[in-house]
Amino acid sequence: MSLAATDQAAENPLVEGLERLPVHPTALVIFGVTGDLAHRKLLPALYNLAHEGALPERFELIGVARRDRSDADFRGAARESIERYSRRRPDPDVLQGLLANVRYLAGTFDDEHVYGELDRTLREFDEIASAPLDRVFYLSTAPEFFPVIAQRLGSAGLDRCGRAHTRIVIEKPFGYDLDSAQALNAQVLEVFEESQVFRIDHYLGKETVQNLLALRFANALFEPVWNRNFIDNVQITAAEDVGIGSRAGYYERAGALRDLVQNHMLQLLALLTMEPPASFEANRLRDEKVKVLEAIVPPALVDVPEVAVRAQYGSGVSGGEPVPGYLEEEGVAPGSRTESYAALRLHVSNWRWAGVPFYLRTGKRLARRRTEIAVTLKPVPHLAFQSSGSIGVKANQIILTVQPDEGVSVSLGAKIPGPRMRIRPVNMEFRYGTSFMSESPEAYERLILDAMRGDASLFTRGDEIEALWGIIDPILTAWAAETSSPIPQYAAGSPGPSQAGALLGAGRAWRRV
Ligand code: BG6
Repeated sequence: MSLAATDQAAENPLVEGLERLPVHPTALVIFGVTGDLAHRKLLPALYNLAHEGALPERFELIGVARRDRSDADFRGAARESIERYSRRRPDPDVLQGLLANVRYLAGTFDDEHVYGELDRTLREFDEIASAPLDRVFYLSTAPEFFPVIAQRLGSAGLDRCGRAHTRIVIEKPFGYDLDSAQALNAQVLEVFEESQVFRIDHYLGKETVQNLLALRFANALFEPVWNRNFIDNVQITAAEDVGIGSRAGYYERAGALRDLVQNHMLQLLALLTMEPPASFEANRLRDEKVKVLEAIVPPALVDVPEVAVRAQYGSGVSGGEPVPGYLEEEGVAPGSRTESYAALRLHVSNWRWAGVPFYLRTGKRLARRRTEIAVTLKPVPHLAFQSSGSIGVKANQIILTVQPDEGVSVSLGAKIPGPRMRIRPVNMEFRYGTSFMSESPEAYERLILDAMRGDASLFTRGDEIEALWGIIDPILTAWAAETSSPIPQYAAGSPGPSQAGALLGAGRAWRRV
């Protein structure tokens, strides 16, 4: 490394990758380890943690799934997943070290023998380590198994382990609506304490989402204007260019509102609007999120058509290729009314935000992939140089781009050189890619590490998940009841349905997707 590079590395901890935080020796048990999430995300994330030296000194991995496989077969499959999906090319020695002792348990998730065998294997690991390892049970299965697994872990006495910590990580979707989320909370909390439960929302693991907190609370510049006096409106967009792929089985029951709005988008909204917590300790942070989520008044059923728009993609062109419409996707029921697009207008009814509209939209098969928050400030109260022919003055905007091209940009009005006072918006930009030299870790790397460390700041608390569901519950109910007219369509590869424009009111437009 050159001297200049060394200096930069010293100033920039991200050059070194994930900081090495102390993690107690841990056994991680992944239920549903042969599934898509483990294959694409969890196993590659574990590899990258191993590569960074971020895993605990003693780390054991046990995979549980229905398929019959030997330990060796599973190791081979895990190796393939990592080679295919890891963000960096695997180093053979690190990979070998990670997988050398991996175990696989085959069985159905309600089979008591599986839990007996699991107990035996965990004790064996404890003996080898001459101390009990912390246990993390990661539920990456279909959601109907979440209560079953929690209950069986409890019956097998695996919910506690002396002085070692036992934690349970639960993937999304956590519930199907408010009632089912409450029921699931009750079932899980019959066995585990809330402090043991880590409900995943992978958006919270994204560096750019956490940067929202840094932007708001590490700078004196933004917070004074972060309220109804200065902010006119906020648009949050999570646009995807992909379709539902092979996920019809899941997506048909979910739809865009459950899949992205209930969790990822409302989390963005909560982080954007919450009051500053006294500390970033998990419960202080989550207290503030819950408070602001509870200030979002769910729409009355009759108002749903005024505040929410749904639509489905028709055929069109994506990435230069013709693509089928939602109804032609494999596994989609004929005449399905599942929405692949949802847009909402919400209000946060508290002193800080009263009167500011928050517009949220998400959709599959839109023109491009882009997740961003656009905060538009109010126009200046008086244009002194109007008489001298100023043109083009626009309200300031702060754009936080979550992905791709992660960064923050602030639009400012600047004078166009010349004799007249002609104004044009220009951008002040911060880009992750150019400001920091290393690639950001994947969300799952951070989340797995935090779950092993017992830091729940980036996980959804029980009351929080219920507050999130509470906001969209009336929309789900109203949409389920409204079966008379076909749901609006938009062409694949387009910016979405024209109907969404009606949510914004006069003089406003959605930002370009
Ligand atoms: C998942 C949804 O939670 O988030 C998917 O189930 C969606 O439908 C995905 O594509 C988006 O995540 P990311 O990290 O690619 O923005």
